[in-house]
Amino acid sequence: MKILVTGGAGYVGSHAVLALLARGAEIVVLDNLRQGHRAAVAGAARLIEGDIADEALLDRVLGEGFDAVLHFAALSLVGESMRAPLRYLRGNAAAGMVLIDACLRHDVGRFVLSSTANLFAGGDAPLDEAAAIDPGSPYGESKWMLERALHWAWRTRGLKSVALRYFNAAGADPEGRLGEDHDPETHLVPLAIDAALGRRPPLAIFGTDYPTPDGTCIRDYIHVTDLAEAHALALDRLAAAPAGAALAYNLGTGTGHSVRAVLAAVARVAGCAVPALEAPRRAGDPAILVASAARFMQETGWQPRFGDLDAIVVTAHAWRVAHPGGYGG
Ligand code: UFG
Repeated sequence: MKILVTGGAGYVGSHAVLALLARGAEIVVLDNLRQGHRAAVAGAARLIEGDIADEALLDRVLGEGFDAVLHFAALSLVGESMRAPLRYLRGNAAAGMVLIDACLRHDVGRFVLSSTANLFAGGDAPLDEAAAIDPGSPYGESKWMLERALHWAWRTRGLKSVALRYFNAAGADPEGRLGEDHDPETHLVPLAIDAALGRRPPLAIFGTDYPTPDGTCIRDYIHVTDLAEAHALALDRLAAAPAGAALAYNLGTGTGHSVRAVLAAVARVAGCAVPALEAPRRAGDPAILVASAARFMQETGWQPRFGDLDAIVVTAHAWRVAHPGGYGG
């Protein structure tokens, strides 16, 4: 099977490339390397440096013939998207539609979209696929627009697709080959680990007055390798899918952890407390976001291997200790 992976040099994309190579797929990565890292692309994959909005490049690349496209390439900072909404709508939604259109021109059979829990406003109970769509930001909206574009691409032109709505991706390849390296880093787990290691200032806890047991936000942290495996299963699921409308699944562990619970897990793994201070809420953060992944489990047999928060943090910690400067160090 020959698969094009856009954003395959990024955090989730690079882990998915490893999972697909392990299954014997031929992988071509398309990445503009603005956020991705050359060193994150497995040696067995071919890297093409370029942009998903470059129609001529897409025609050249997809003209080789691909069975499937996995689309990870995106701007992905919720807060930044609130400040620059059109940058996100153009960079993610408009450019993603250029890619989908090219897939139609070149008869790609299957398409997997990296989507997000930011489609949902949050809620006390785990969110399944029937939860109301109410994107929390232009980032979430841009992914929803792509889900809709895929719905019509399947219904009218037969491009089979599935959107995987990740909750909070965290952790690193358990074999230590890949990890999380964003610039700027805004995610809780790597920031907390670096604070514990004394490489960053104390962690700012964004909001301690949420309606949760300890007052801090609750999220569903899912190991990036479990997400990677879900992409391989989603491709299998599509192969068996009858004609219809685009599929979408929520992916998480079903268990939420507060910010303070994450800091406690990091402290256990690092063997020292995480220096932290209380700070005001961050705009756009829902109090609770937890997934019900029951449908995906039922329909594909997927089971997270790293359901336990400490197990996730152990892999993230090991990678950051081994790579103090990230991929560049
Ligand atoms: N947090 C802090 N301090 C920090 C960083 C984060 O308290 O320095 C808190 C946040 O307020 C939030 C939680 O930790 O409550 C997790 O924050 P992250 O920034 O790690 O993750 P988000 O939940 O904001 O966003 C992530 C992805 C998005 C995706 C979203 C879906 O980064 O791309 O999950 O829920 F859309």
